[in-house]
Amino acid sequence: MAIYPIRTFGDPVLRTPAAEVTDGAESLQRLVDGMLETMYEAPGVGLAAPQIGISKAIFVADVGEGPFAMVNPEIVELSGSWTFDEGCLSVPGHYWSIKRPGYCKARGTDIHGNEVVYEGEELMGRVLQHEIDHLNGMLLLERLPRRTRKQALKEMRERQLGMIESP
Ligand code: NI
Repeated sequence: MAIYPIRTFGDPVLRTPAAEVTDGAESLQRLVDGMLETMYEAPGVGLAAPQIGISKAIFVADVGEGPFAMVNPEIVELSGSWTFDEGCLSVPGHYWSIKRPGYCKARGTDIHGNEVVYEGEELMGRVLQHEIDHLNGMLLLERLPRRTRKQALKEMRERQLGMIESP
């Protein structure tokens, strides 16, 4: 297994919609093992393949109920509303209070191509939405209210340019 370097804000792979996964189970198992190891090491509760530079529609997560992976997932249901201090391993050191639907249901497959459905409220619902956003080339910054987003992007750019110290 391998711990992958995590791509951070500014890397174009994070803005690129991920390609549909067509790989076989054996190579997906290796990828999932490495992604989980990377996620736990970080530590984080979810990690999408683009975050390690692989533009494929697969993510792993563990919200405390054990690890799972979803291949080619799509959101099929959203409801309610929940505000949560959300962070992202690709935007390290930052948390923003973000309001999203509280409940999310997602459908996809496991690494063997069998259909799987994951759903949940609060943290589970949030992780499903956050990781599927990554697969659509979207970061949590885009979920911020306009003014907060402008300020956050300014801060990110300054940090990239070394104008202010990283956390
Ligand atoms: Ni993230």
